[in-house]
Amino acid sequence: MNILVINGPNLNLLGLREPEIYGKESYADLCAYIKKQAALRGCGVEVRQTNHEGVIIDWLQELWPRFDAILLNPGALTHYSYAIRDCVKAIPIPVVEVHLSDIMTREPFRQISVLQDACIAQIKGKGFAGYADAIDLFMKGK
Ligand code: DQA
Repeated sequence: MNILVINGPNLNLLGLREPEIYGKESYADLCAYIKKQAALRGCGVEVRQTNHEGVIIDWLQELWPRFDAILLNPGALTHYSYAIRDCVKAIPIPVVEVHLSDIMTREPFRQISVLQDACIAQIKGKGFAGYADAIDLFMKGK
């Protein structure tokens, strides 16, 4: 099992951005956590981050053939990017949507995910552990 992890806008600011919501750990801590959890499960992983919608689409289109599954935290793009939604629908490998925070208990605009029904699951509100849960979900389905 080889998993591509894509983190979207502002996730590089973890630790600095709203620590009361996203925690005090940094983006480097998140990357290390994901790599450790993947290694513990004998799973390959590549972790990327970008602040740009089009780059996410380019990566999904270009990289999916090298992977078995994709874990996507699109940040705020979750709530309005029909372009990412269309791309997720177009690629033939499973995609799980992950959010550190519980988007359903936050501002009304965050409670809408335009990606949710294009993904096989949405994991939210579990902090870093949500990424490990997504890996477990892929491993179960393999
Ligand atoms: C987020 C939730 C989004 O609403 C927000 O814009 C983010 C992070 C999360 O991981 O909780 O950037 O995707």
